[in-house]
Amino acid sequence: MEKIVILTGAGISAESGLGTFRDEGGLWAQHRIEDVATPEGFARNPQLVHDFYNARRAQALEAKPNPAHDALARLQREAKGEVVIVTQNVDGLHEAAGATGVMHMHGALNAAFCAACEHRWDAPLAMAPDDRCPACQATATRPDIVWFGEMPYDMEEIWQHLEEADVFAAIGTSGQVYPAAAFGQHAGRAGAHTVELNLEPSVNSRDFAEARHGSASEVVPLWVEEELSRQK
Ligand code: APR
Repeated sequence: MEKIVILTGAGISAESGLGTFRDEGGLWAQHRIEDVATPEGFARNPQLVHDFYNARRAQALEAKPNPAHDALARLQREAKGEVVIVTQNVDGLHEAAGATGVMHMHGALNAAFCAACEHRWDAPLAMAPDDRCPACQATATRPDIVWFGEMPYDMEEIWQHLEEADVFAAIGTSGQVYPAAAFGQHAGRAGAHTVELNLEPSVNSRDFAEARHGSASEVVPLWVEEELSRQK
């Protein structure tokens, strides 16, 4: 049975109105990574970090899936084999489009985490430094986001999926952050056909056998259509 593994990045949510990180005027042009996306930054100024994620959580709640998210959910529904979606994104747009089993390797805005007892729960719209953990009451809550220097989630399972993939597609990611930036090479070496679907060539384009450049809402539905016809 054929297995398709997909990695998505901020570019797939750009047309839903959510900012990317490294494009002109992106999130890392507006905020210093060390202030809002590292454990040290959170320890230094938890209010600043909560403000950053509270704003992104509110924005993500207003956003709607675009045709690229819809196409991937369709692929999962109609493909003959397994379709695994791994996302670097922390928005819930894949799920809003109907995708299932989405692996959030960098965490999710709609989840909260307790650093004291490791309890996880649905994040409130706005989190604050003195929030208490609903399980242990410690004021050790944080957004359930994987920050720079922390280990992404589900990596064992993700490497396994990449080794079993017949097709690996990277969508809307600049290929600048590891370990996700190594997925194309890893899947290709294990025998997968690799394709990059991005607005412009990513820094690791050479790892892919095929590339289609353009807006995700255009190139992804076309690619899904072709994948489904190929499987017929
Ligand atoms: N359609 C397709 N691709 C697009 C679109 C679009 N409409 N708009 C932008 N892109 C592409 C850009 O060309 C770029 O290559 O999406 C990519 C976005 O790259 P980044 O902003 O670096 O986002 P991403 O690759 O997801 O970042 C990876 O870095 O900061 C960390 O944890 C954060 O998950 C994030 C990780």
